Amino acid sequence: MTRILIIGAGAIAHHHANAARLIPGAQILSADPSEAARAKFAEAFPEARLFEAPEAMLAEAPAGQADIVVVAVPPWLHAPMAGLALAAGFHILCEKPLGRDLAEVDAILAAAARAGRMVGDCAVRFNGQPAAARVREILAAQELGRLNLARMINRTPRMRPGIEYQPVSRWFLDREKAGGGVLLDWAVYDLGMLFDVLRPVSVTVKSAWIGGVEGRDDPPEFPVEVESHAAAMLELTLPDGARLPLLYERANGVNGPALYELSVEGTKGGLSWQWLPPYGDEQTKVTRYVDLGGKVEAEVETLPMGEHPHFHHAPLLGLVRRIAGQDSVSLDEVGIRFNFATIAAIYQVAETGQSVTVNR
Ligand SMILES: NC(=O)c1ccc[n+]([C@@H]2O[C@H](COP(=O)([O-])OP(=O)(O)OC[C@H]3O[C@@H](n4cnc5c(N)ncnc54)[C@H](O)[C@@H]3O)[C@@H](O)[C@H]2O)c1
Repeated sequence: MTRILIIGAGAIAHHHANAARLIPGAQILSADPSEAARAKFAEAFPEARLFEAPEAMLAEAPAGQADIVVVAVPPWLHAPMAGLALAAGFHILCEKPLGRDLAEVDAILAAAARAGRMVGDCAVRFNGQPAAARVREILAAQELGRLNLARMINRTPRMRPGIEYQPVSRWFLDREKAGGGVLLDWAVYDLGMLFDVLRPVSVTVKSAWIGGVEGRDDPPEFPVEVESHAAAMLELTLPDGARLPLLYERANGVNGPALYELSVEGTKGGLSWQWLPPYGDEQTKVTRYVDLGGKVEAEVETLPMGEHPHFHHAPLLGLVRRIAGQDSVSLDEVGIRFNFATIAAIYQVAETGQSVTVNR
């Protein structure tokens, strides 16, 4: 029997518990010092065993070969809780961002190597969907010719966690607790998904910038210490040696227009794809830009979502598959570190102005 032990019983813990219900015979346990969080969790998951302290939950029974501890607490607790769970002999699935900085990520990966246990990173939440798989096929067949530019832009004028989104979780605004703002919170998904499609072997962050806004209704008692806007110019080296520029922008607080774009363009064509899941819709799509002589037209291919798990279930179900030695969206430790190191490099370049290269 697999045990899924969830540290934290807050918002995201409910999604992991729903995923755990899909694992045949799995037993759900959760630990949270907040009585209110435990009560809400118990209502949704009456079958779960609840604890006040993570230490008491981890001491319940020796770790079984397939048991997983899900670290579903805010970022400043990821490294200490992951350390506890790994030392107790469990595989861990950790919420994103895995650490507040690269040193914390390295500490978690080193602890896992010492314990001989696996680390799953929830940053894979949106990876491996049918549209992305189709794009990988198109790119592998070199249908776009020589690649010119990849572009990922996602700007929402106001959607800062801790203010406009999930305002009860003010820790999102505290740099010490959260580790960073929109870049740390979202680039883990954005670049994780893009790198899963493009498979770069190295990335150079050429230039980068982070900044923020002063919102009219910002809570005076909680100063906003984290960025709400990030932009970077990256150069990816692809497995065949080709170099592909990537223009990246992410904002959840910006005084400008909303803008969403994801594209890869080459000498013979371009494409875009739906990477956030199609809510309430069983289909997803890939758009190709085709030269029709004098004009370029968009041709849309729709694809069934098929058996792909709900994005909130994908991290846990993916790690279960990886532990069982099956194909999985779950990244190995090398992939986890490469992706996180790229984000750390963006922060570094924003601060120093000097380009940084990260190798896989
Ligand atoms: N909320 C979302 O939409 C969302 C989505 C994806 C990922 N995440 C990630 O999930 C993580 C948790 O976020 P959340 O939204 O669930 O936060 P939350 O504030 O809803 O819940 C966090 C829970 O952790 C508990 N906690 C605090 N200290 C603890 C301790 N020592 N031991 C056990 N539990 C403790 C709190 O009491 C709280 O119930 C973050 O890393 C976040 O980035 C959140």
